[in-house]
Amino acid sequence: MQTEFLGDIQSIEKQNGKLVIKTAPAEAHIYIYSPTIIRVNITKNASAVDHSFAVIQQPADNFEYRELSDRIEVSTAALKLIISKSPLRFSLYTAEGKLLSADEKRFGTTWRGSQVISYRKLFPDERFIGLGEKVGNLDRRGSSYTNWNTDAAEHGIDTDPLYKTFPFYIGIHSGLMYGLFMDNTHKSYFDFGATTDNEMSWFGADGGDMNYYLFGAQSIAEILEDYTWLTGRMEMPPLWSLGYQQCRWSYMRADEVLDIAQTFRDKKIPADVMYCDIDYMDGYKIFTWDPKTFPKPKRMIDKLKAMDFHLVTIVDPGIKIEKGYKQYDEGIKKNYFATYPNGDNFIGEVWPGRCHFPDFFRQDVREWWGTAFKALTNPGVEGFWNDMNEPAAWGQNIPSLMQFGDIPMPEVRNAYGMQMARATYDGAKKILKGKRPFVLTRAAYCGTQRYSSVWTGDNSAYDAHMLLGQRLVNSLGLTGMAFTGVDIGGFSGDPTPELMVRWNSLGAYTPMFRNHARIDTPHREPWRWGAKNEAIIKKDIEHRYQLLPYIYSGFYTASQTGLPLSRTLAIDYTFDDNVYKTKYQNQFLFGDSILVAPVISTETKADVYLPKGEWYRLSSDKQFDGEQVVNVPAPLTDLPVFIKASAIIPMQSIIQSTAEAGDGILQLHIWNGTQANGFIYYEDDGSTYDYQNGQYYKRAIRFYPAQKLINLDIPEGTFNSKFTQLNLMLHGFDNVNSLTINNTEVKLNTRSAKTSSFVFNNIKDEINIRY
Ligand code: GLC
Repeated sequence: MQTEFLGDIQSIEKQNGKLVIKTAPAEAHIYIYSPTIIRVNITKNASAVDHSFAVIQQPADNFEYRELSDRIEVSTAALKLIISKSPLRFSLYTAEGKLLSADEKRFGTTWRGSQVISYRKLFPDERFIGLGEKVGNLDRRGSSYTNWNTDAAEHGIDTDPLYKTFPFYIGIHSGLMYGLFMDNTHKSYFDFGATTDNEMSWFGADGGDMNYYLFGAQSIAEILEDYTWLTGRMEMPPLWSLGYQQCRWSYMRADEVLDIAQTFRDKKIPADVMYCDIDYMDGYKIFTWDPKTFPKPKRMIDKLKAMDFHLVTIVDPGIKIEKGYKQYDEGIKKNYFATYPNGDNFIGEVWPGRCHFPDFFRQDVREWWGTAFKALTNPGVEGFWNDMNEPAAWGQNIPSLMQFGDIPMPEVRNAYGMQMARATYDGAKKILKGKRPFVLTRAAYCGTQRYSSVWTGDNSAYDAHMLLGQRLVNSLGLTGMAFTGVDIGGFSGDPTPELMVRWNSLGAYTPMFRNHARIDTPHREPWRWGAKNEAIIKKDIEHRYQLLPYIYSGFYTASQTGLPLSRTLAIDYTFDDNVYKTKYQNQFLFGDSILVAPVISTETKADVYLPKGEWYRLSSDKQFDGEQVVNVPAPLTDLPVFIKASAIIPMQSIIQSTAEAGDGILQLHIWNGTQANGFIYYEDDGSTYDYQNGQYYKRAIRFYPAQKLINLDIPEGTFNSKFTQLNLMLHGFDNVNSLTINNTEVKLNTRSAKTSSFVFNNIKDEINIRY
């Protein structure tokens, strides 16, 4: 088989909104999506429908280009794409002419059979971050990866591929950066200089077009904003899903589910969510309940609701082959299942035994699937956990003969889980009539954030896996997935009590805080670890609930800008070498201002790298200068967590679940600093879509140290805050003993922090606090 190269340009033509460049073997189509986003699609199949699972935007109608003797220049306000004619090669520059990303001169885009590869210039100092759920280091330089959604049961800390595909990375070099998203759902490959003697990087796929989007904004936050503009952002999650979630494979009977929920309430350990894993079903048949062990699901769920718990149930794609089973009969009748090329339904074995697999690529199948959720929503389920949707079948080697309609499985495998999550989300949203469903999926592709949260699959109960999980969460955040979690405690194996404590401490700072474990492992609930450890875990969960006003506001940011909750330090400190060092690469910012340093369970001291700025240890208010490594105590009771100077963090008193009204006091914590800072405080009813019609409460809070001023701007929106009183809690304001609130003098209490309380809710005006 010969390698084919692009060759020289034969013709250039502008067609509605795109530039079409032809060479002997292929056509390149250039589109501009925004001043900072340019798409290059190199195709051998120009007549095919231009379809994407990920992209929800359209290119701009028109754009200008300039043709010179040796090249073509396509320019936007921010970028310049230089297209050399002989041979056809692409180079992306900033408008000022700084090179961001380019084809490797010798090879550019090539084919071997249907496999298409783009060979890229590798800059000597180039780092790479991204690709979502991928093992290895934060800086992916020197690593290579495959995208092929896989049921990676028992995976180690080096296993690749895992469950999800996000062919989007950010390159950082020469004080510059760019994003590159190859939108292609075939099996794909990325090599960041790993196997080329650092001569080049390369990526490509087993089929389809060399179809990539280049992002040229010059901050990671803006690249993420652009990427999530292109592929969509998450909607506001139900508030209850941000509380503590208790899962297990499986709570085997309704009584057990209720007992566990009741124990949380008895022990006053806050929690919001219980799960039913596969054993609630009748013979693992999706959309059924086991008549013996879950005989009256509504009664169970009513009881859970009376305890302020929400129930999430698992649904897998495999439909059991069994005459008389509704989903099987309907699916057969309507030909809803994946087939072989001759039309026979594909059969694979999963939990229920022999199964067919719905073709989620079809809208009618998605609608059918969506409607079936009534079997779960009627008794009161509000959360839907989509598992095994890589898709998984025992043996793990589904033949490439499998088809979805006319589409061979290998072309779209990486988007199957996403389409299942889409069907689940759309269906549940319709049935829940205005309530926000919670969806959790294991397999995903770019754009899944529009439908679902994700977790990182079957991890294991050891320290290195806990640290890996944090990197996966941080890295998923670089691909638009803001609502992410890991199995706290490790799915497989037996965590030590110390590991369980550590992992829960970290869980409080994980977007989705879910404890889950495998069927053959000891129970993992917070009270299984001895009284002393239970007390620590309880405190960490309580802390999670105290932070919810900050966390919910963080989700609002994610829904507006795509900036995730868990942020690798590479987002804000992109050019600081230390954040990429293996020793510090797991550290992250949770929201704008909380730096968390994961620590393994066998250490009680930790080296923490504090980036530029001033920092305070959360537990002591002790101050530290940034740009240094500090060695700090890290007992099990006190994970190293640091607050950025000038931070604005709204908190609340401990509540037992998000349904509890609480004491009505918003605790506004501010840590002194020298830099001005702002925070968007956001609240809504936490459960409906009314916020999309203006029913929210949003208030900009700003801190201006130079003017000694804290300003709460006029609230926006028509929702009334549930908080009626505001407690201001000042940290590091040592010489301040009184302040004025809208010109009225107030004395400060001094206990741990300097505090001052005032009535808040009815103040629709601006509030100015001077000290
Ligand atoms: C898969 C899931 C796991 C679940 C189990 C049983 O292994 O990843 O979370 O508990 O199946 O449904």
